Parts: sequence; structure tokens; C-alpha cells
Amino acid sequence: MEFSIKSGHPEKQRTACIVTGIYEPRRLSDVAKRIDEVSDGYISNILRRGDLEGKLGQTLLLHSVPGTLADRVLLVGCGRERELGDTQYRKIISQAILTLHETGSMETVCYLTDLNVRGRDIAWRVRQAIETAHSALYTFDQLKSKKNTARRPLRKIVFSVNSRRELPIAERASREAQAIAAGIKLTKDLGNLPANICTPSYLADEAKRLCTLHEKMSCKILTENQMEKKGMNALLAVAKGSEQPPRLIVLEYKGAKKKEDSPIVFVGKGVTFDSGGVSIKPASNMDEMKYDMCGAASVLGILSAAAELQLPLNIVGIMPAVENMPDGRSVKPGDIVTTMSGQTVEILNTDAEGRLILCDALTFAESYKPRTVIDIATLTGACVIALGKHAHGLYSNHNPLTNDLLNAGRFSGDRAWEMPLWDDYQDQLDSPFADISNVGGREGGSITAACFLARFAKKFQWAHLDIAGTAWSSGGKKEKKGATGRPVSLLAQYLLDRSYEIHSPVILTPEDFPPDEIDENEGGEQE
Ligand code: BES
Ligand code: MN
Ligand code: ZN
Repeated sequence: MEFSIKSGHPEKQRTACIVTGIYEPRRLSDVAKRIDEVSDGYISNILRRGDLEGKLGQTLLLHSVPGTLADRVLLVGCGRERELGDTQYRKIISQAILTLHETGSMETVCYLTDLNVRGRDIAWRVRQAIETAHSALYTFDQLKSKKNTARRPLRKIVFSVNSRRELPIAERASREAQAIAAGIKLTKDLGNLPANICTPSYLADEAKRLCTLHEKMSCKILTENQMEKKGMNALLAVAKGSEQPPRLIVLEYKGAKKKEDSPIVFVGKGVTFDSGGVSIKPASNMDEMKYDMCGAASVLGILSAAAELQLPLNIVGIMPAVENMPDGRSVKPGDIVTTMSGQTVEILNTDAEGRLILCDALTFAESYKPRTVIDIATLTGACVIALGKHAHGLYSNHNPLTNDLLNAGRFSGDRAWEMPLWDDYQDQLDSPFADISNVGGREGGSITAACFLARFAKKFQWAHLDIAGTAWSSGGKKEKKGATGRPVSLLAQYLLDRSYEIHSPVILTPEDFPPDEIDENEGGEQE
């Protein structure tokens, strides 16, 4: 999909389709008003006849509207104007995009970015519009022998801004959105791939492929032997029952001015299939455990976006990748292992494997002398019960980091919710035989999992995102089954915010903008 930004009057656009909004009840948005004027009341006539109320997500496609140069005008219901918030805006955009895709318009000039969304500026509206358009059109058909492609698919979307002054800011948002959307797509594709294809070595190859695309990126893949030498026995214990050899995938992106700047480290759980091991899971929905590597896939998505945007930061991605299977060689309930940190763990339940691979990955992260470590994991079913599919569970040992992540979530619409990491929960992890047990009982299951990890994250500012409820959708009335690409948007925003701290965003003026990109005769000024 090609995206661009433009400022210009709707009636001057030679395009397959102009898109604009109608508020409820039958109230024209500014751009709809303008089209109404040039067409001698064509739109208001139609609304009066009752063809469109303006309810959220309603659409009406008009052909050859008088006074315009476009083939079509698509009216999209926006609901009541004062109720137009983030969620409504995303719904409006995705309805519009899907309708265009199905009705044969291969390109469009979309004025929905001009809508007045409560508290949101043009940068946000463009960023969200592009991310939403991408996600509306996402399909995963790599493994279908017959692809269900539209006859005349939507190929090009031009989003409009109100005035030329907004162009540079919107352009920048567009660049950011496209890089993030590409990262999200990578994460979704990897999540959706089945475990017979997406193995630990497959993830390692993906990391290598990413490195070939970006100069400032390099990668190291640790094999079983190398991990043994480092004493990563908790990680290795999980891999023991599988035919698939484990990998510790390490990606480094060096974008900071000073190579030696301490990095931000992401650690992503990469269990390519979680059968539960000897503590085997029930058969129903076990297929969904192919998504148990979504933490690792998110790390790849985030690094891809960061490198694409050439962020001025040093970033490291660490992805412990294993398959958790029952077998004669598997780790057994009651087995005790010594982690890389030296702490011993009694593995009471082999299905609590995420924390076992993450604890060694966190200790490994210490060698990078990180500024901040953020781990991302489909860690507990308990988190799904606590927060459902809307918010990631957020735990942190450092308050400012909590706030930065909560804020990045609010901006990106990929929200997290803070959970307690109080010491009060720690004694649920006591073991009679080892330093710590890998399960803490039914109560507060997501919290005790985080408390387990906290014991391995004492040497740095650390946050943990439990994405068990948010990384994929089991499918239902409204949503397709599949990976969501979350929390790539949140964490990419977190990185953008850190980048702005270094280089405060340059505000360009229209004079800084190359004049040939503004199509004067087609568009013209709109101020
Ligand atoms: N990958 C699962 C967590 C999970 C479960 C994610 C359901 C999404 C949906 C994790 O490895 C796991 O099995 N956790 C156990 C921990 C328990 C044994 C302490 C769980 O949540 O049941
Ligand atoms: Mn498990
Ligand atoms: Zn798991």
C-alpha cells in the first residue's frame, strides 16, 4: 500500500474516490459541506431523503457527484461529533478502507484525517489512520493455495491535511506510521505461522534476514552448547523435550551517536509451541500455543521499526527461543535447575516455562549494561482473566519507566495497565528444596509470574509486559482469529519518545518543504 499526504480542496481532486465524514444526525463535516456547496446541495438532498443517518461506521457510496472531479464520493458515518474519540476514529477509518477495497476504488483521497478527534492533533490522526488502514487490510494467506484477492484492490491512499502548515508534521507521522505498520505486520506474520514452520531456528533466520536489511543492525545466535557454557540451565531445561534445538537470538541496533551509549534492551519470550511439556495442557485450543512466541516476534517488529526510522538510540533485542514438549528427555515436575544467575529453581510445573527461559535471558541482558530492560511475554492465562484482551499487564521496578510506558500506550492506543509488583506476593514462590519455585499457586497468577522475573531483574530498570491476552485474538463475531501485532505500536512509541528527548522534534515550516510535492493545480490552498 502506498500512502501520501496532501493539502487541497476536495472538488479539485482527480481521484477514484473522495472520502469524507457525516456526523449523526445527518450533519455535514467541513469537507462534506464544501462538496455540498460545489454540488448545489447534492449531499444535503441525499441526507434529507434519509439515505444516511451518520451513525458510526455507516457508509454511502455516491457516483459522479456534480461539481467534483472524482469518480466517487464515499460518505462515512462518524457518530455524534462530540463523542468522536480514539476508538470511534479508528472504526471510521477502518470502515472507510474496507468499503473502498471492496468497491473497486484503487486509489483515494481521504479527508477523514481532518475530523475533529477529541484531544488529538494532526500527527496523531495521520499516524492512527495509517496504522488502522494497514490492520484493516491485513490478511495472512501465505499458506492458502488459493488467495482471495480483490479484483480491483485499493493501492494508494492520500490523506489530507487542512493546511500546508501541517504538511511537514503529517509527513513525519506518516513515515513513522509506515515503519511501525511494517513492524506490526512482521510480528503478525510470525505469530500466525504454525509451529511446524516457525521453529526456534526459523526465528533465528528471521533475525539474520532483518540484519541484512539494516546496516546498523547485527545479530548473534547462541546455540545449545554456547548456552550451556553460560549456565543457562533454566532455559535449556525447557528445550530438553523437543526435537527442535533451542536458540538464543540477539539483535543489536546501534543508532546512537556514541556507540558505547548504554542500550535499551527488549527481551521477548519465544516459545514456538507450548504444549505444557509433561504438565501437558488440555487438547482444546492447544493450537493457539503456536502464538507463544509473540513476545519474540514483537521484539523483531520493534527493532525493524526502529532501524527503519533510524532512531538515534542503541537497542538490543534478546529472544530466547524454544519449543516446550513432553518426551522421555523432558524436564519433570520436581526437577531442580541452577539458573545463569546462580539461583536454583524447583520446576513444579513444566507449563510455567516462560519464566524459565526469560530468567536466563534477563541475566544474560546484564552483560549489555542496559539503561532499561523491557521483557514481553505471553506469560500467564491469569493475565487474560485479570485484564482480558484490551490491556497488557504492566509490571515494573521503576516508576518513571511505568509512566513512560503507560503514556506511550495511551498515545498509540496500544494500552497497558499497571499491576502490583509488591514483595508481599514473593513468598508464594517459596520452595522447600530450592531458592525459588516456578509457580506461585492460583492466586494472583500473573503477579507471581512477574515476581519470579523480578528476582532476575535487580540490576537494572526493568518492566515486564504480560501480553497473553493482547497478542492474539481467538476470533469471534467482530475479529478474525490471529496475531494482533501488539505491543509493537506501544513500544515503538516508547522509543520515539526517547528519541525526541535526544533530538527535540524539528518543527519544519512550509518553506522547508519541497514545492513540487504540493500539487498546486490539482489541490490548491485550503486555509
Ligand atoms: N503460554 C502460557 C500462558 C498462556 C495461557 C497464554 C493461555 C495465553 C493463553 C504459559 O506458558 C503458561 O502455560 N502459563 C501457565 C502458568 C501456570 C502453570 C502457573 C498458566 O497460565 O496456566
Ligand atoms: Mn506454558
Ligand atoms: Zn507458554
